[in-house]
Amino acid sequence: MPPIPRNSTIAVTGAAGYIGSWVVQRALDRGYRVRACVRDTEDLAKTGFLRAMPAFASGRLTLHAADLDNPGCFDEIFAGCQGVAHVSHVSTYDDQDYVRRTCDHIIQSINNSGSVNRVIVTSSVAAVMDEADIQELVRRPVLYEDRFPDESNARRTTDRGKGYSMGKVVAERAFAEAALGHGRWDAITCCPADNVGPIQSPHHATTGWQGRIAGMLSGEYTQTPAYRPWMTVDVRDCADAHVGLLDSDRVRNGERYIAWSTDARNVEDICASIDRLLPELNYDSPAVTDPFPERIQAREAELRSIWAGTELRNERIRAATGMEFRSLDESIVATVETLISVGGVDVRRRKA
Ligand SMILES: NC(=O)c1ccc[n+]([C@@H]2O[C@H](COP(=O)([O-])OP(=O)(O)OC[C@H]3O[C@@H](n4cnc5c(N)ncnc54)[C@H](OP(=O)(O)O)[C@@H]3O)[C@@H](O)[C@H]2O)c1
Repeated sequence: MPPIPRNSTIAVTGAAGYIGSWVVQRALDRGYRVRACVRDTEDLAKTGFLRAMPAFASGRLTLHAADLDNPGCFDEIFAGCQGVAHVSHVSTYDDQDYVRRTCDHIIQSINNSGSVNRVIVTSSVAAVMDEADIQELVRRPVLYEDRFPDESNARRTTDRGKGYSMGKVVAERAFAEAALGHGRWDAITCCPADNVGPIQSPHHATTGWQGRIAGMLSGEYTQTPAYRPWMTVDVRDCADAHVGLLDSDRVRNGERYIAWSTDARNVEDICASIDRLLPELNYDSPAVTDPFPERIQAREAELRSIWAGTELRNERIRAATGMEFRSLDESIVATVETLISVGGVDVRRRKA
């Protein structure tokens, strides 16, 4: 299917969320008309920043209520849209039948629209690398788009915490198969990594990787599971990846694209970067807390060395969209400054 024209209308699900908010902003910047989908348009704590955007005043940005748990709820919103960025979470990833149902709800509304040509489905790098057996990363250390977690592993179950990555793979396939069957729209997957970067609303300060940085600023943070380094993408670049995939003439149904800068940094180094990059803050860096049982702590060196042996690739998204990624240092500065100025986060400072 052809690229989505820049003055046409697109819908963004999860528009009040951290990533969705930036997809809205970057799509507006590129000239699109945007239907921002949230569950409750009257929840000003979540939608106030969208209402404050200049394009809301002109009507180029509009707000719409939809809960993807309800079949048909996107029918009216998608009618007349040429593109959809389906960014939102679902209520749970631990019930795979429920995940499939939510996909069906969106797919039906796309089919009913008669106008949608391209859908960007937000997945995750978890759907690339979240292994039940970490040794699989030693056997297949290159982290690129054709890689999926080993699905033959019997320990890959929701009970063992794999529901999120399983649900994301289910959704990727459901959309690609539905698009193929329908023939009039394409489904392209975007797999974001660990998003950091500026927040646009105070409610973004408490969730995700940016919320972990808020914890560091307040004086408490914990080790990342399996001692995995943060594999980051700036949220503005993540949004540019989504919008770039809507706009690209190089993408085909069923393709997936990883959005990460390929910068990887241990959580302790992220925390130490704050004082290095912003000495004026007089930030009193706390020590990391390690909540893992002794048997995991005993494997710290081994686990760190497995992660150090992985190779992160992003050639595909750069070729499809022409985009480049910001450095993690730039993202950390923007995260910290907006957590304080927009999120009202209190910083633990050194005593004079
Ligand atoms: N943040 C990351 O580092 C990261 C990394 C990889 C992948 N992702 C993926 O990126 C997407 C966005 O993540 P995010 O960090 O921006 O999350 P977020 O800030 O929590 O936003 C998620 C949004 O999903 C919406 N939502 C949840 N359940 C819904 C439902 N039943 N119906 C309609 N909307 C629903 C919420 O809408 P309301 O505003 O109505 O509550 C919320 O605004 C997710 O699909 C996530 O898996 C994120």
